[in-house]
Amino acid sequence: MKVLGIESSCDETAASVVEDGRQVLSSVIHSQVKLHEPFGGVVPELASRNHSLWILGVVEQALADADTDLHGLDGVAVTEGPGLIGSLIVGTQTAKAMARAAGLPLVGVNHVHAHLIAAFLGPDPLDFPYIGLAVSGGHTSIYLVEAADRFTVLGRTLDDAAGEALDKAGIQLGLPYPGGVHMDRVAVDGDADFHHFPRAFLRDRPLDFSFSGMKTALKQYLKSIEQPLDARTVANIAASFQQAVVDVLVHKVVQAAVRTGVKTIVVAGGVAANSVLRRDLSRRCDLEGLRLVLTPIELCTDNAAMVAALGYYYLSGQADPLQVHFDLDVDPFPRHVIFRRGTQ
Ligand code: KG4
Ligand code: ZN
Repeated sequence: MKVLGIESSCDETAASVVEDGRQVLSSVIHSQVKLHEPFGGVVPELASRNHSLWILGVVEQALADADTDLHGLDGVAVTEGPGLIGSLIVGTQTAKAMARAAGLPLVGVNHVHAHLIAAFLGPDPLDFPYIGLAVSGGHTSIYLVEAADRFTVLGRTLDDAAGEALDKAGIQLGLPYPGGVHMDRVAVDGDADFHHFPRAFLRDRPLDFSFSGMKTALKQYLKSIEQPLDARTVANIAASFQQAVVDVLVHKVVQAAVRTGVKTIVVAGGVAANSVLRRDLSRRCDLEGLRLVLTPIELCTDNAAMVAALGYYYLSGQADPLQVHFDLDVDPFPRHVIFRRGTQ
């Protein structure tokens, strides 16, 4: 079954064709990073306008790369939320129009769930159930994933997402946008023990996160030391800050596995590309006798292959999209834009 996936929830316009939820036939991503760079963050109005400029070209390219056209597909899957409402509308309306024109079934999928399914597209064998850590610029949550329609939130951030904390730290350290990517890059030459940043383990909420205190701690620390910072000091501070974020993520996701007795951990989302998180979690899982399935780096950040992969379960009848509860603390988004062949 060939599924076209469309993703436009934030600042990537993406389309992909995936076969049977496993094999990526094409994956095209148009990134808006350069567009938002001068503002130090995603500007929603610019994002949605740019999606509408690019989306048709991106979809056409994905179809061409997969050597197919709309009539060679078995269904369409689109991210329906969470995300920026104007951006989501561009993707969902495009998907609706294409599905209607070609007489294809269409399913809307949850963006965070799609991140947590992306690991199925990698080389490591994977099966349900697993503990999923979804860690990105917008989300930091731990899930028990029992099926493509059974995602249970075990813990979530009470304030900033981990990627947001890294991005904001990057700005404070004068690094380019997006901060998380450049924190990882410069931290390679830094000393993670240079400065101790607080780790919020929240003992009464063992699987929840809080990162906002770290941001304040960094601001205060930067005020207390001599400026401007040389490159070595920036690297040391970036490494120390990143280590604090990673320590909390590793501790909590392992706790979730221990508490539930589920032996497999999957890490997904933009921050799952972080080299220190990948290294430390691998080591810790080895020690704890847990199996770690890392999402392939190119599928960690936003893409449409993960959307097509999740859509496949719904379109093939292996999971029921109406069972999926949109239980996230997110902006409003259009619910379940679902119709099947021959309806609506
Ligand atoms: O999943 P994603 O593309 O978009 C959201 O759904 O948020 O994640 C983007 C986030 C940004 O905060 C970015 O700084 C972070 O992922 N990120 C990283 C790395 N690559 C991307 N953070 C740390 N280390 C990386 N290597
Ligand atoms: Zn994402």
